[in-house]
Amino acid sequence: MELLKDWKWRYATKKFDTEKKISNEDLQNLKEAIQLAPSSYGLQPFKVLIVDDPEVREKLSPVSWNQPQITEASHLFVFAAKTGMDKDYIEKFIELRADKQGKSKEELQAYGDFIFNSIKDKSNEELTHWNSRQVYIALSNLLTACANQRIDACPMEGFDNNAYNKILGLEEHGLHAVAVVAVGYRSSEDSYADLEKVRFPEEVLFETV
Ligand SMILES: Cc1cc2nc3c(=O)[nH]c(=O)nc-3n(C[C@H](O)[C@H](O)[C@H](O)COP(=O)(O)O)c2cc1C
Repeated sequence: MELLKDWKWRYATKKFDTEKKISNEDLQNLKEAIQLAPSSYGLQPFKVLIVDDPEVREKLSPVSWNQPQITEASHLFVFAAKTGMDKDYIEKFIELRADKQGKSKEELQAYGDFIFNSIKDKSNEELTHWNSRQVYIALSNLLTACANQRIDACPMEGFDNNAYNKILGLEEHGLHAVAVVAVGYRSSEDSYADLEKVRFPEEVLFETV
């Protein structure tokens, strides 16, 4: 399987080449990889900020344990989960679905009600966690797409989520920073590139029942 080669090639890049930028065409493909990720009911309860502004990235650096990827990578993707879930959002999703699938809103009403009934008794915190889990599926799509295109990436949770919310103004948009992916090209000085992969063996990881 070709994909196995891609996953073996990739590693969590620590040091990026600051001179190399990913092309617009590659960026477009990576965005599409995120867009095509599956999500529960198809709701895509998140937003992805691509932080271009060097000044903003400088501000994010100290609240990311000063990890060099934040300022040195070509592009920085910040994945923010929607906080909670509401009828309006589900309504908008149903409208989109009706439009895309050539159905009437009425035809899809039962599906919308079904989604709403499944979430209406959950707390905001539970819903935000649920939304965050959808984020990780999209994040994984991005990592795989990068590897496939021989673009380096580092998934990151080592940052202060609340500080990101403040700096990027996420809270007022009903969003919460969950994870970051730094994307670009490895520096020839990144010693992590040559390290052996560390993974538990099959017999530890799998069980047939
Ligand atoms: C959700 C998540 C959060 C991570 N956070 C960081 C991080 O903040 N900084 C970092 O350098 N690596 C981070 N990593 C990278 C992991 O340490 C790395 O994926 C793991 O050690 C396996 O190594 P490999 O990706 O090079 O195969 C993170 C990985 C994931 C999936």
